[in-house]
Amino acid sequence: MNNIRIKSILNSKDPVPSKLADESYLDFVETFRDIAGYRNYPLVAQQADKKISNELGKIDHKTPIKEIKKIINKIPFAATWQRFMRSHQEMMWRRTRESFSPLKDKILSLMEEAANSPNSKLTIDKDFKVPEYAREEIHLQPGGYTDDPLGGIVYHYGTKVFYAGTNDNDEVHAEICETLTLPKDQKINNVLDIGCSIGQATILLKDKFPDAKVIGLDVGEPLLKYANWRAMKLKKDVYFKQGLSEDTKFNDNSFDIVLSYILFHEIPVEVIKKTVDEIYRIVRPGGTFCIYEFPSASEKMPASQRWMIDYDSINNCEPYSPGFVYLDFKEVLTNAGFILEPGPKNSNMFLQTITAIKPK
Ligand SMILES: C[S@@+](CC[C@H](N)C(=O)[O-])C[C@H]1O[C@@H](n2cnc3c(N)ncnc32)[C@H](O)[C@@H]1O
Repeated sequence: MNNIRIKSILNSKDPVPSKLADESYLDFVETFRDIAGYRNYPLVAQQADKKISNELGKIDHKTPIKEIKKIINKIPFAATWQRFMRSHQEMMWRRTRESFSPLKDKILSLMEEAANSPNSKLTIDKDFKVPEYAREEIHLQPGGYTDDPLGGIVYHYGTKVFYAGTNDNDEVHAEICETLTLPKDQKINNVLDIGCSIGQATILLKDKFPDAKVIGLDVGEPLLKYANWRAMKLKKDVYFKQGLSEDTKFNDNSFDIVLSYILFHEIPVEVIKKTVDEIYRIVRPGGTFCIYEFPSASEKMPASQRWMIDYDSINNCEPYSPGFVYLDFKEVLTNAGFILEPGPKNSNMFLQTITAIKPK
């Protein structure tokens, strides 16, 4: 346990790597991601779209992705960007996991203690069976969302690096919770954060609606145990439940607001459709279903964005994202019965936002 900063996980609101050397390594990866990944992307996209236009003329979102890839992958800057995106992600997960591993027993016992405390509002179903599709190692995280007991803390620090300094204090989640569309009658007693991961938005929803019952639902037990531990440390009175978005077991018309932040591009198309029907069932008439999600393909989607999403799906293990992007998601929502409104503006220009309202 030499040099292990055990205090870093005990009372702090957010995890800190167990060694100073890990923290500085991961700081480097985070800055590298920001500069080489995020800031270079618009330049890669510019070159890519120019080359596509020169070689293929006018194209649309139905032009086969194979043709687009053949051309863009030949641009040295684009190939370098791809290599960088893959490698830095692997560096990040490896070092994050290694950093928390010496504290594994301590972290697991603290999460268990929180889960078993009389104040805990976490429900884990002992007979719950994780569907195979949910066990993919999404974003290359070892063990994915469901199979690594340390998955919650590793996800938290890993996504801190992913957000490259923009979410160190849950600012991304705060913007979503501040701007989401409320039911017109403003009656808000029950709120659901579906696919809540480690409950960052769940907690902020409780801050926004202190008198409401706020529940976070997710398939991943390690994420929920961590979410519950963190919420209890922060003294936030929120509920967490293990379950499936497509079969939540909640009663009809139970929720005034359901929030879904980047869940749909991570589930297969048949599960997307079932989830939309399920949410229609559990939202009450007049309630809002607030969606923040990957973009849907349209004629306006540049070839570079299609190339990037395709790359990400293969090299960042997002096997279901193309299924979502090329699905007519708005049609799925209206077929379920929702009435759609444009969602609020969000500072992440990549995301689409939709407010789906269950008619009275
Ligand atoms: C990208 S994360 C969502 C991020 C999260 N909403 C937030 O506020 O940061 C996707 C989440 O959906 C969960 N998930 C995937 N399939 C699910 C399903 N069928 N039912 C419930 N949760 C699911 C995963 O475990 C993961 O935590």
